[in-house]
Amino acid sequence: MANKILKKEQLIPGQTSKLVIDAPHIAAKAKPGNFVILRVTEHGERIPLTIADTDTENGTITIVYLVLGKSTALLEELNEGDEILDLCGPLGKATQLHTGGTVICVGGGTGIAAMHHIAKGHHQAGNHVVAIIGARTKDLLLFEKELKEFCPEVLISTDDGSYGHHGLVTDLLKERLEKDDSVIEVVAVGPVPMMAAVSKTTEPFGTPTTVSLNSIMVDGVGMCGACRVTVGGETKFACVDGPEFDGHKVDFGELRQRLAAFSSLEKESFEHHCR
Ligand code: NAD
Ligand code: FES
Repeated sequence: MANKILKKEQLIPGQTSKLVIDAPHIAAKAKPGNFVILRVTEHGERIPLTIADTDTENGTITIVYLVLGKSTALLEELNEGDEILDLCGPLGKATQLHTGGTVICVGGGTGIAAMHHIAKGHHQAGNHVVAIIGARTKDLLLFEKELKEFCPEVLISTDDGSYGHHGLVTDLLKERLEKDDSVIEVVAVGPVPMMAAVSKTTEPFGTPTTVSLNSIMVDGVGMCGACRVTVGGETKFACVDGPEFDGHKVDFGELRQRLAAFSSLEKESFEHHCR
């Protein structure tokens, strides 16, 4: 059966789940940084999700999603053995992997899972990968064990101080940059305010910074314009020109506005679905 869910794990019950999907054609081609677009129903919304991991031997991909609206609630209703209606990928440009230095990969909330595949790519390219991961509280922290499998350093923060550093990922990033001048790149994946704050933190150090943008997407192949973002004053399409861009050039204010454009409709449709 195509796109069959082989494994489902609720990472944070009722909020975040991980699916291992049988998708040999995608697994064979997917590179760190790529994403997929999936649909659960014929007339449903298309959900873009960064690939969290691949297993080429078993022909599977791993995705992690936050139940945020009606479409992700419908995805959450699927179980092991069920089939995902459409799964398109790998999409987007792969992460540009440089070698020979320290790469700091910063992940916030659900973004940690997406960051995992990118961090793995930097590790496989021969870099010393430092992971900095943060969540609001200890129970919401994802992929700590998975990152520890290949990252020699995993630094943790929680907003409430329940685990690791009491504060934000950017506190740990600033500290790390102050004591290490071998950092060749910082990568950030997570909520838009976090990616903006990471880019602001690295600017005085002059450290190249890459962010993975989670724009609203429809077709995912550069035709509809839904995912447009402004980078260095130019319009780019996150699906084909990205999703990774130079964080020092991204117009985060505009991205935040565009992401918020449908939030009331999304909330309404989710509440209607839950009734
Ligand atoms: P969250 O709001 O709980 O934030 C997680 C962590 O990010 C915080 O603990 C903190 O350390 C850091 N952070 C947040 N705001 C910050 C700020 N202003 N300054 C510095 N650090 C800050 O995260 P969440 O609720 O789990 O949300 C996850 C978000 O990640 C969603 O908005 C989702 O769309 C996004 N996401 C993005 C991608 C991607 O590919 N870009 C992938 C998955 C998820
Ligand atoms: Fe349509 Fe990018 S999603 S152009």
